[in-house]
Amino acid sequence: MNTVETNVASFPVARLRRLRMTETLRGMVRETHLSPDDLIYPLFVVPGSNVKKEVSSMPGVYQMSVDQIVRECADVHALGIPAVIFFGIPEEKDEVGSGAYDTHGVVQEALRAVKKEVPDLFLITDVCLCEYTSHGHCGIVRGNEIVNDESVELLAREALSHAEAGADMVAPSDMFDGRVGAIRRALDEHDFRNIPIMSYAAKYASGFYGPFREAAESTPKFGDRRSHQMDPANSDEAIREVAQDIAEGADIVMVKPALPYLDVLYRVKQQFGMPTAAYNVSGEYAMVKAAARLGWIDEERVMMEMLTGIKRAGADLILTYFAKAAAGLLRRKR
Ligand code: PBG
Repeated sequence: MNTVETNVASFPVARLRRLRMTETLRGMVRETHLSPDDLIYPLFVVPGSNVKKEVSSMPGVYQMSVDQIVRECADVHALGIPAVIFFGIPEEKDEVGSGAYDTHGVVQEALRAVKKEVPDLFLITDVCLCEYTSHGHCGIVRGNEIVNDESVELLAREALSHAEAGADMVAPSDMFDGRVGAIRRALDEHDFRNIPIMSYAAKYASGFYGPFREAAESTPKFGDRRSHQMDPANSDEAIREVAQDIAEGADIVMVKPALPYLDVLYRVKQQFGMPTAAYNVSGEYAMVKAAARLGWIDEERVMMEMLTGIKRAGADLILTYFAKAAAGLLRRKR
């Protein structure tokens, strides 16, 4: 920072506007470049066939059955987006989230089908129980407590079952203690040593997940997620969370949501220098869509500004519902 300030000549010799006069020159000195390679597209898998149901609070985002997911994945791949992340909504939910670690669960079936039809697409799975439990919590509930250690065992089972079905990477999103280590051990014991873990390392208890919970049908029936997700007021604690996940074997660490936590993202990237992901979540998407529909903002412009800002703050990877739109735009601009 200091070097930048001391090297700046003063006005009128220095005119910072000089380099802003043409688009060519602005392009030449641009510091941050967004690319389709940076993007990961989230997909919601539901049972059945020929199902493609729009999520009302997320225009352009659909719950899809496996056959439709395969078609969608072919499109995503054709746009130059390297990876998708799957979320599953099972036929039936129960207290222990059995659908999450069922060999024939929706995500497992999607993995097998997409691996066959679109082999070059990189397949990530969200590892959590909230979409699979009848109470909508991320783990086992006893009385008023969402218990940690028993839940972690089930998460490890879920991750293993995803790897067996063809997942290229698993992404635990629960925020329980010790889950990255447990998942690493389970994968290693079963010869999945080369399957990386992208941990939702600093995930906040956020109001911005509202539309996702409609998409994933995972709103908790009682209580909330504040006993495991982080307090929005904290950032030193995020550093401890990330450090712990790295120590347990996380290969990529994530900060989530993105926009209200760009300071956390910046700190995490600066401090650890790890491959870092940011999740541009459902509520961030929905706000842009809603305001654009009302004609209050320019959707494409705001989308690109948001994604560029997230990358500038330190994200190497961005999980975003805008992935297809942004990749399409970036291709047309080239
Ligand atoms: C949990 C999970 C959530 C999201 C991703 N994984 C929801 C939650 O913690 O309640 C939210 C993503 C979004 O809002 O886009 N499986």
